[in-house]
Amino acid sequence: MARRATERPPTRHALTGWPTDGLSYGGDYNPEQWAPEVWREDVRLMREAGVNIVTLGVFSWGLLEPREGEYDWGWFDEIIGLLHESGIAVDLATPTAAPPSWLLHAHPEVLPVDAYGVREQPGGRLGWCASSPVFREHALRITTALAERYGDHPAVRLWHVSNELGGGNGRCWCDVSAARFREWLRAEYGTVEAVNAAWGTAFWGHTFADIDHIEPPRSEQHKVNPGLFLAYERFSSDELLEHYLAEAAVLRAHSEAPVTTNFMVGSGRHVVDYSDWAAHVDVVANDHYTIVDDPVREQDLAFAADRMRGLAADRTPWLLMEHSTGAPSWQQRNRAKAPGEILRNALAHVARGSDGAMFFQWRASTAGTEQFHSAMLPHAGTESRVWREVVRLGDALRRLRSIAGSPVEPAKVALLVDEESAWALQQGLKPHRALRYSRETRLWHRVFWQRQVLVDVLPVDADLDGYDLVVLPTLLVVSDAQAARVDAFVRGGGTALVTYLSGVVDETSRVRGGGYPGAFRDLLGVTTEEFRPLQADETVRLSDGGEVTDWSEDTNLHGAEAVVTYADGDSAGRAAVTRNAVGDGAAWYVSAQLPLDSATRIADRLIDELGLPRAVEAGTGIEAVRRRTPDGDVLFLVNHSDADETVAVSGRSLLDDTTFDGAALVPAGRVVVLRESAAE
Ligand code: GLA
Ligand code: GLA
Repeated sequence: MARRATERPPTRHALTGWPTDGLSYGGDYNPEQWAPEVWREDVRLMREAGVNIVTLGVFSWGLLEPREGEYDWGWFDEIIGLLHESGIAVDLATPTAAPPSWLLHAHPEVLPVDAYGVREQPGGRLGWCASSPVFREHALRITTALAERYGDHPAVRLWHVSNELGGGNGRCWCDVSAARFREWLRAEYGTVEAVNAAWGTAFWGHTFADIDHIEPPRSEQHKVNPGLFLAYERFSSDELLEHYLAEAAVLRAHSEAPVTTNFMVGSGRHVVDYSDWAAHVDVVANDHYTIVDDPVREQDLAFAADRMRGLAADRTPWLLMEHSTGAPSWQQRNRAKAPGEILRNALAHVARGSDGAMFFQWRASTAGTEQFHSAMLPHAGTESRVWREVVRLGDALRRLRSIAGSPVEPAKVALLVDEESAWALQQGLKPHRALRYSRETRLWHRVFWQRQVLVDVLPVDADLDGYDLVVLPTLLVVSDAQAARVDAFVRGGGTALVTYLSGVVDETSRVRGGGYPGAFRDLLGVTTEEFRPLQADETVRLSDGGEVTDWSEDTNLHGAEAVVTYADGDSAGRAAVTRNAVGDGAAWYVSAQLPLDSATRIADRLIDELGLPRAVEAGTGIEAVRRRTPDGDVLFLVNHSDADETVAVSGRSLLDDTTFDGAALVPAGRVVVLRESAAE
């Protein structure tokens, strides 16, 4: 069965180059909110801050095309001209995230419909269904008009298709979507018999007589067939991708500039399957916002950055398209950044391969939904800490320009993530609703991050050559081919760490019989005969002293050795963590939701046994990554703790020309970036 309906193009669009000289610095710029006098001040202050690129036009559709087919380019010509004269590149957005009122008024049928049949009201954003031919026609008309007018403009150095596709219109349950879904099913499965077989529809008498009888999973999700559920998630991602591709094709027909769209990787969000999307963008770009409730928000930042690197072809630089200078306005409690945190967060992305640091947005809005969202130029103006730090960051990025285009040092650890597993686990049909996919992916990333061991966060189908360790955290949905690749990796001398529920179902969401974790049990030398989900107030002690929450299993050994066992509870004496020697390689299994201390012990043993490289040896609050430039390695040391730390390194600081001979002091909350040299 073909896994995807969307074919990839035979070749990548040739990348004409990075949009800016050196690292990119700037943000979303929404000049339509301001009078033209303000634009002149904006451009002057952008230059003062070292801004060299802005994202323009994200929400401008209704002003560029005030009535159907009537365009008003005057103000846009002026602002693009002004930016260009000042040497500021334009990342030009197609304005399709913001359908104009005349379109929604004339065609309310383009608005998305929720799972209960309620049509969304105008007034938000991305208020359109990805399957709507009416919306597509209008979107491609404005995209064509924009591309015809500015496709050759020298200021336009990057195209930004729409905005955060799926953020608001990730799923639509309207009848048009339903009809498109049936077409998608025909392409994917061919016949209704194949659908019935794949989804096991005999259960609850759900056998379909015809593909035309299949509806999207509209009702409460726990009543939905898991195969249908997963198919609709894939379909929805493919539909949005089709929309992206349609706009991108128009842009490419009129312009040589690279094309991107801003992904939303971070804080456990899994809206679309970016592993399918990444090959279709010329610059992989991400929006990242730290979440106040996240106890290790800097690690979410690192995880997202490592994922972007994993999505970028050849691990080439990617671009941080948006983050914030301070508090957003959409969280329950919005948090301002601490002094120095703007630089610390921005450079942590740069350390991990972003060739720039951009923000939402340039100037703080005084009106509208996000009137209290932070910006590069805050309401207080230039007499503010935020502005001073923004100027300082611009200076830092200029000083670091020699690293532009350089790769991050190669990682030896790969951590596989998969939207399909995330969707399946989040659906709530799985054996325990307390489980969260992102908890496991973050845990197994964190234990290496805190030891300065670089991890590439990779799509499940990525090439594993060159890695020493591959980690599969709760990779629930696994095809035979994917399992075979992990098997071959271990038999070729690699080490795999597989955690609970991985490989338990195949790509149609069907359970693999004969003992869990079906796809990997031979490789791991274990079988789990029964899951033992834990209750809210229940913990189980482990032989290493750790305490398990939420998930345990009754696992039997078939060749593997027990490394850690359950010390109490109904699984007492059984293996919680196992290791199976396979040729020169090894396959580890973790059957429990481990606490940080137990997971750290496993990571430390793997770091030791496999000789996994630590960028430096420092405390858990220090993040350390190298970028490889033609003039030698550039080491980023980021101190996330509230204590100063001294790290054993030598070199010259790129931020302020200090030299370090054998030791560098990294003050609490600060960043040191140095070009390394051998100790004297
Ligand atoms: C009810 C139903 C069964 C099955 C069980 C278990 O008893 O009659 O068909 O669904 O619940 O959930
Ligand atoms: C997203 C959007 C921006 C803005 C920011 C801040 O990233 O792309 O337009 O709304 O969030 O909330």
